[in-house]
Amino acid sequence: MADFLGAYSIQHWLESAPQGYLEGTEYGHPPGEAEPKLLLEDPLLHEQALRTTVQLVVGERCALSASSGLINAAPDEASKRFLATQTLDEARHVEIFTQRLYDLGVKKGELEDVIRRFANPNLVKFAELLLEKVDKKDFVAGVVGQNIVLEGLAFNVFEMMHAANRELNPKFAHTLAGTIADERRHVGFGENRIGSLIRDNPSRKGEIERMQKEMSYWMLATFADSFRSAPAREEREHWRAAGGASAAPASWHGVDLSSAEPEELEQVLADSVLADFKLRLGRIGLQYQTPARP
Ligand SMILES: [Fe+2]
Ligand SMILES: [Fe+2]
Repeated sequence: MADFLGAYSIQHWLESAPQGYLEGTEYGHPPGEAEPKLLLEDPLLHEQALRTTVQLVVGERCALSASSGLINAAPDEASKRFLATQTLDEARHVEIFTQRLYDLGVKKGELEDVIRRFANPNLVKFAELLLEKVDKKDFVAGVVGQNIVLEGLAFNVFEMMHAANRELNPKFAHTLAGTIADERRHVGFGENRIGSLIRDNPSRKGEIERMQKEMSYWMLATFADSFRSAPAREEREHWRAAGGASAAPASWHGVDLSSAEPEELEQVLADSVLADFKLRLGRIGLQYQTPARP
């Protein structure tokens, strides 16, 4: 527990995040950085940027609700304090991705309309499943749903987006880099804290494994909607036409993100997230369940 207390303490959080990799940033990136002109001028790329960012806001709002809700369900003081730091991290993520919507031209009064218009209904179902467990103050299921499933999803999506945007959009890539560092801490907590609770409550396993399977299905359905859409295909052509994507090769898990077809991107993302779930669930003594493929 000593190690656990140190790595997930507020002191460690202060030194590594606010006084560490976030120092000097403004809404997650160095001051003065802006969105690329092309994203603001090309209507299709602009709408795709809004759509993508809205999914990030929806996911992070869910994480904010879940991490704050789990504080009062946590059985020990160290977990409560860690979840307090996570709550602030998630609130920051909501804020920086909301700020990106403003940077993309959304007016403050339009924010909720834009979110309602673009929020993927499958991602909303994914979030509802998790928040149901949190509302019941079910700590074990809530932490697995949040710190393994939701964060495993976020971690991989952010990493892939980070690789794709490093050259094309440094401002967005820098914003993502800080969230990736935060999410790494969050998934670590899930694994370290929950293993012993699962061992103490073996009767809960089946139900939690079913939750993972169901959440994974809604996640895959969200990916299917995003990658199989017509705009997703055209988006790449627009970057290429402007000399962007081809001039900026970006590789992730061995796939060249600038030349791969959307189907290939969907596949590598889904495979990476599911492999992560399998690995992390195995470490805490849960059996990964293969979701249906939408
Ligand atoms: Fe987050
Ligand atoms: Fe997180």
